Amino acid sequence: MTEESITEILRTVKYPGFSRDIVSFGLVKQARGDHGKVYVRIELTSSKRDVAEAIDRDATKALAAEFGEDNIHVEVHLPTEETQAPQQQTTSGINRIIAVASGKGGVGKSTTSANLACAFRKMGLEVGLLDCDIYGPSIPLMMGASGRPEINAEEKIIPLNAHGVRVMSMGFINEGDNPVIWRGPMIVKTIQQFLFSVAWGNLDVLLVDLPPGTGDAQLTLCQTVPLAGGVIVTTPQEASLGVVRRGINMFRKVNVPILGIIENMSYFEDASGNRNFIFGEGGGRTEAERQNVPFLGEVPIIQSIREGGDAGVPVTAQDHQSGAGKAFFDAATALYSTAFK
Ligand SMILES: Nc1ncnc2c1ncn2[C@@H]1O[C@H](COP(=O)(O)OP(=O)(O)OP(=O)(O)O)[C@@H](O)[C@H]1O
Ligand SMILES: [Mg+2]
Repeated sequence: MTEESITEILRTVKYPGFSRDIVSFGLVKQARGDHGKVYVRIELTSSKRDVAEAIDRDATKALAAEFGEDNIHVEVHLPTEETQAPQQQTTSGINRIIAVASGKGGVGKSTTSANLACAFRKMGLEVGLLDCDIYGPSIPLMMGASGRPEINAEEKIIPLNAHGVRVMSMGFINEGDNPVIWRGPMIVKTIQQFLFSVAWGNLDVLLVDLPPGTGDAQLTLCQTVPLAGGVIVTTPQEASLGVVRRGINMFRKVNVPILGIIENMSYFEDASGNRNFIFGEGGGRTEAERQNVPFLGEVPIIQSIREGGDAGVPVTAQDHQSGAGKAFFDAATALYSTAFK
């Protein structure tokens, strides 16, 4: 009856609605055996009572099967009011915020964010897209959105509308090619403003395109923003180099659930339909399995994906749900099933 053996059993307890367990979500704060008794303390970050009850019941049942019903003391704690209140108050109307991250630059993170946003919109959801890439905001170009946002009567910034998606980006404020030279704390402040001083209205989901990398800036952002979860975009070759693991670790450090991995630029399909796995095959899926996180799909290299981005019309905003957009629609559907419970 060691901490390890108790924790091992708790790994079989899934967080309701997720394929991940309560240990990997970082919710188990204490697991201890003492004179034949098991003491477990679980601290939730959500105040949903039914979630707490389900976890309490499942954890108790799993431990009782091994150590006997009378020896199990499971405590499930809901977050305290102070730790919760600011989040609810400041992002009222936004149902869930999902961050899109990558360990490295240039893997197609912004392309993926823009296409997921448009796919969710086509699926009938109310969608926002927040570009947190202060230094190289590419969302305005990809979404075909430009101009200075207006301020409403409540002095909130009105996001621009592109393809039915509400979009906010530093690119709207700092128009043109002026380089933005800022220090970390200013970036976090600006992002907070984007989150809390923008008239997002009611959103089913706000997608956040994080700056590339997994350094301090990204970590701070993950802590600042009340995230429902994170998605990691990777290419096959970076997956095999452990870059994905850095992204996963970043989210885990701040207890943000990992909603899944999307592999971009998975293969190139030639004119006769042969798939060329230029960067190797299956890297993203293998890494997802190894890390025990959902794999959301593979997006091939397709010319119209690049063209759609350059023209400001992501492929998923175009009419069809087939062809180039299909892979992104499939990924959006998979993400929907892991994140929208
Ligand atoms: N699946 C794809 N097929 C074809 N082109 C793609 C695909 N994914 C991304 N691209 C192209 O690759 C380039 C880089 O993509 P993108 O800007 O989305 O990457 P990023 O990870 O956001 O980069 P950064 O780190 O600079 O923010 C863009 O020109 C984009 O159009
Ligand atoms: Mg980008």
